[in-house]
Amino acid sequence: MPPRHAYWTILIGDSPTAFRARERDELLPTFERLRAKQPDAVLKWFERGRLWASPEEARGPAPSPTGPPDRRGKEWRPGGAHRDPRDRFKKDKKPGARGHEDRGGPPPTDRPRADRPRDERPRDDRGPGAPRRPWQPKTDPRAPRPEAGERTDRPWRPKPDQARGDKPWQIVAPSDTSIGDEWLKPKAMDKRELDEVKDAFVAAAKRAHRAGFEIVELHAAHGYLLHTFLSPLSNQRKDEYGGSRETRMRFPLEVAQAVRAAWPAQKPLFLRVSSIDDVEGGWSLEDTIAFAKELKALGVDVIDCSSGGILGSATAATKTLLKRVPGFQIPFAERIRKEAGVKTMAVGLILTAQQAEDALRNESADLIAVGREALYDPNWPVHAALALGVDPEYAHWPQQYGWWLTRRDGLLKKLGVNR
Ligand SMILES: Cc1cc2nc3c(=O)[nH]c(=O)nc-3n(C[C@H](O)[C@H](O)[C@H](O)COP(=O)(O)O)c2cc1C
Repeated sequence: MPPRHAYWTILIGDSPTAFRARERDELLPTFERLRAKQPDAVLKWFERGRLWASPEEARGPAPSPTGPPDRRGKEWRPGGAHRDPRDRFKKDKKPGARGHEDRGGPPPTDRPRADRPRDERPRDDRGPGAPRRPWQPKTDPRAPRPEAGERTDRPWRPKPDQARGDKPWQIVAPSDTSIGDEWLKPKAMDKRELDEVKDAFVAAAKRAHRAGFEIVELHAAHGYLLHTFLSPLSNQRKDEYGGSRETRMRFPLEVAQAVRAAWPAQKPLFLRVSSIDDVEGGWSLEDTIAFAKELKALGVDVIDCSSGGILGSATAATKTLLKRVPGFQIPFAERIRKEAGVKTMAVGLILTAQQAEDALRNESADLIAVGREALYDPNWPVHAALALGVDPEYAHWPQQYGWWLTRRDGLLKKLGVNR
């Protein structure tokens, strides 16, 4: 049974184009047709944040029909040569992760205890009061912390944690007015500082490319610097970067344009917005739609639709308009998608597979982002695939897990236990 997917993006030249199919194989003819029609265009298969040269490569080696390989009685060899090449657990093969193999010796369990080198340091060199080792933090992590709710160890707050030796930062912003009493007074950025920040964004994108990332997302939400240029509450500049909506958008657009030029054309560029400030006189959804249209024209591929952060909660607008209910920010993704004609990503209290699926099927968004639910259930994507019936045979799970779970399913069925 080939692995299945419900949502796909194929990159045709520079532009990611979404295709939907319940099964991966349904898309193969499309892919082949496009490849035959435009042999010179870069066609890439984009799935779960990874790019593949072809659907065949995405599919990977066929799962073994006989279940996980039997390694019993396999002789141990240095360098991991004893491991089955079909083993999809690549992580622990990183150099150093299996130290005994890199050193060319037998696994530690094979070595008699008495042969292991002894730690000869005197005991008073360790434990409380011992001299700080170079890799240990300079501040004592066991020092008493402020009470919960009084945490002040954030140096961009007016009262940093003096006990830890933190000093307040000199923060920068479009204007030198602090937006709320609890905030530090910023320094207004001059043109040279704006250029420095733009260059730093570009340098970061280039580093991300060299490091192998497939997507970068610019942060223009949640009260971060680019957001503070957009919002009239925080941008009171009198020069070409303040004033009307058009001029307030200028600096974030310049950054987006510079990053787009530096980030490879075939790699998607996302940008996160606070769709609304939800504060009177603040940034509105109409503003975001206008901004999204400009971003699209510059080649930004996806708008990640969050909200808030200028005042109140840092990651969601809930001051006046919004109640935090499951999927509360999906309507932003939907309107921006429809009115700016750009792909959007929905985020915020998206909990279940069905909720995510509905948002995609209703064309409210093109992508779904899951934050805290993924902390709660790190296997969320594979559980969602199971819940939606697109991966009944555990093809997306590590091969060994799939083998065990398929058998367990058989047993549960026999016992009449529903899962
Ligand atoms: C551990 C953690 C770290 C986060 N860090 C950031 C961040 O650096 N920037 C940001 O915009 N949002 C950040 N968020 C917010 C999430 O991106 C997301 O917008 C928010 O959690 C709402 O989605 P959720 O309900 O699915 O968690 C973070 C969330 C979590 C749980």
